[in-house]
Amino acid sequence: MDALLDVRDLAVHYRTAAGPVRAVDGASFTVPAAGIVGLVGESGCGKSTLGRALMGVLPRSASIAAGQAVFEGRDLVTLSPAERRKLLWRRLAFVPQTAMNALDPVQRLAAQMQEVLVERGGLSRAAAGARAVELFAMVGLDAGRLRDWPHQFSGGMRQRASIALALALNPALLIADEPVTALDVIVQRQILDVMRDLQSRLGLAMILVTHDVAVVAYACDRVVVMYAGRVVESGPVRAVLEAPLHPYTMGLMNAFPDLERAGGELVPIEGAPPSLLNPPTGCRFAARCPFAVARCEKDPALLEQAPDHHVACWRAAEAPALRPLASEAATWSR
Ligand SMILES: Nc1ncnc2c1ncn2[C@@H]1O[C@H](COP(=O)(O)OP(=O)(O)O)[C@@H](O)[C@H]1O
Ligand code: SF4
Ligand SMILES: [Mg+2]
Repeated sequence: MDALLDVRDLAVHYRTAAGPVRAVDGASFTVPAAGIVGLVGESGCGKSTLGRALMGVLPRSASIAAGQAVFEGRDLVTLSPAERRKLLWRRLAFVPQTAMNALDPVQRLAAQMQEVLVERGGLSRAAAGARAVELFAMVGLDAGRLRDWPHQFSGGMRQRASIALALALNPALLIADEPVTALDVIVQRQILDVMRDLQSRLGLAMILVTHDVAVVAYACDRVVVMYAGRVVESGPVRAVLEAPLHPYTMGLMNAFPDLERAGGELVPIEGAPPSLLNPPTGCRFAARCPFAVARCEKDPALLEQAPDHHVACWRAAEAPALRPLASEAATWSR
């Protein structure tokens, strides 16, 4: 139990006119004290909702319906607003899904840095000025750019500035939601390199939310695969990506180009994740799974199939035999 963050059976629902949307519906995983955890899954699987729930920045229509998220020994779900304010930025920091959301368009970067460092961090103005320069250097931005407005920055520079802001008060855990989505591949790699470098130099933990398995393969130490509001597979990135146990993970691996080498056949997973207004019963991936059998009408539990490697699939023990089939396009086109 030396995890920095232990998320257990977390459920987050949105109230809508049509009924509750079960955006996160029983998600469990752990984050160690150091390293980068990739939270991956297609769009609509509940990744952003999960990240926002951990940060306590859900929209009003959303609420945590069940579960725990124990961070440094305290359950984030039951924290009072005052306790949460003490944690935010200092222990737990967030880069929201678009970098523009993290930056105030009507303030120069220096003023935004000052605000975090002086008002939330309690630094003197002089100390904050020096720290802002140091933070910009850490993410590879020239100190002169602190005088700029966000709109003068390229997408990659904005992402660097958002990361610098989030790290201003030395958090223990940084949650970055799709930090490289919408950037071209070269800039993606630069930002991921910055994140890796910061992680190893500062020794903090990061959750990197992405829909792209190639990003996980390039930058992460561990991976948590989400499908339809649930965690379906998790473990060390090598173990999971080299020998996936869940057919969804196998499918994701086929569907994305490698960040390092272009080319190779991309095999999409047909269809789309189910609506979370009325999620299907049984295995939620069954409608798209080429390996579904009668048993899959019942819900598979998330179990530790190999040391530190969890999976929720009835056929996990057969994964070595299923993997070669999953790498063939014909398996997925039904
Ligand atoms: N404000 C909202 N109201 C109702 N449903 C929402 C809201 N935001 C997201 N959802 C739904 O919750 C599910 C998960 O969304 P999200 O957490 O954004 O997933 P991801 O980040 O994996 O793309 C989706 O089905 C989405 O339609
Ligand atoms: S439980 Fe069944 S349907 Fe679900 S992923 Fe495993 S084999 Fe496929
Ligand atoms: Mg998202």
